[in-house]
Amino acid sequence: MEYARLGRSGLQLPRLCLGCMTYGIPDRGTHSWTLDEAASRPLIRQALEAGITFLDTANSYSDGTSEEIVGRAIRDFARRDEIVLATKVFFPMRNGPNGSGLSRRAILGEIDNSLRRLGTDYVDLYQIHRWDPHTPIEETMEALHDVVKAGKARYIGASSMYAWQFAKAIYTARLNGWTEFVSMQNHLNLLNREEEREMLPFCRDQGIGILPWSPLARGLLARDWRDSTIRQESDKVTRALYTATLQADRATIDAVGRVAQARGVPRAQVALAWLLQQPGVTAPIVGASKPGHLDDALAALSLTLDDAEIAALEAPYIPHPVVGF
Ligand SMILES: NC(=O)c1ccc[n+]([C@@H]2O[C@H](COP(=O)([O-])OP(=O)(O)OC[C@H]3O[C@@H](n4cnc5c(N)ncnc54)[C@H](OP(=O)(O)O)[C@@H]3O)[C@@H](O)[C@H]2O)c1
Repeated sequence: MEYARLGRSGLQLPRLCLGCMTYGIPDRGTHSWTLDEAASRPLIRQALEAGITFLDTANSYSDGTSEEIVGRAIRDFARRDEIVLATKVFFPMRNGPNGSGLSRRAILGEIDNSLRRLGTDYVDLYQIHRWDPHTPIEETMEALHDVVKAGKARYIGASSMYAWQFAKAIYTARLNGWTEFVSMQNHLNLLNREEEREMLPFCRDQGIGILPWSPLARGLLARDWRDSTIRQESDKVTRALYTATLQADRATIDAVGRVAQARGVPRAQVALAWLLQQPGVTAPIVGASKPGHLDDALAALSLTLDDAEIAALEAPYIPHPVVGF
């Protein structure tokens, strides 16, 4: 396994993260396409045995059942101190007041709920899943600092938001001597490169590690655009993120197909190799619903694209609307 530091932090990570949104009870929460525990465990085990010891989940994934499945798998298949475990807070965990968001009340309650479901007394990376427009950023950053000082999280990170919001959060922490974010988990793949405008340069400037989510555009970059899968048919988020631009994006999908064919490798390897070569990217967060998906992700670590291939993959891209946050 190849390792890298998460931005300018001291934390070392494998260059692939296992995205655990795939693992959760299908009729809990909003992702009907997820794998139940029996189907999830062999994939988590395969990842751990291959050295993908960095796992990303969230309190909201499948109504908390992703955290429960991941926690039990780590207990059964790994040593906790060899794992880098990341989870998130923001999205609703129940209806009514204080059931979501980034208030002090939500953060201090949700970290304890996550730790209970994960069966551990700390997470390595605690991430805010989105920006909370209803809570002062000072309240959020101080609460996150207190989570770290209480020993419940080793580092903090953030996920999709505008670059100005992320900058405001970082400078608020810096001015007050609170723990700063070390990572940005954002939407970045060959079908959506809008983060190249502001967020990626900011992260590189500040030494923030970049952890792209949905690196294969939820599967669209891994197959011909005429093909589909059960997940694609039922994943509402895939529709929300990609349907409006899919006509234009077919040219990019075709370019991935051509580079993959010339190399004699599956498309997923090409799309992941492109991301792994982007400056500042520490580890793409890969989704795996079949054993071969992990094999391709691992193989992508040894695939180096040349300048002509990268140019061919990037050439068809057109500006996209802001989606995903
Ligand atoms: N922070 C956020 O807001 C946010 C948002 C989204 C995701 N995430 C994180 O990112 C992780 C990954 O998201 P994702 O699952 O959307 O990532 P992805 O890697 O873009 O998509 C995974 C899907 O691609 C297909 N696939 C993967 N490897 C393949 C291969 N070698 N050949 C053919 N198809 C392949 C599979 O689709 P099929 O199952 O259809 O075959 C798989 O379910 C999540 O688990 C979560 O941890 C975070």
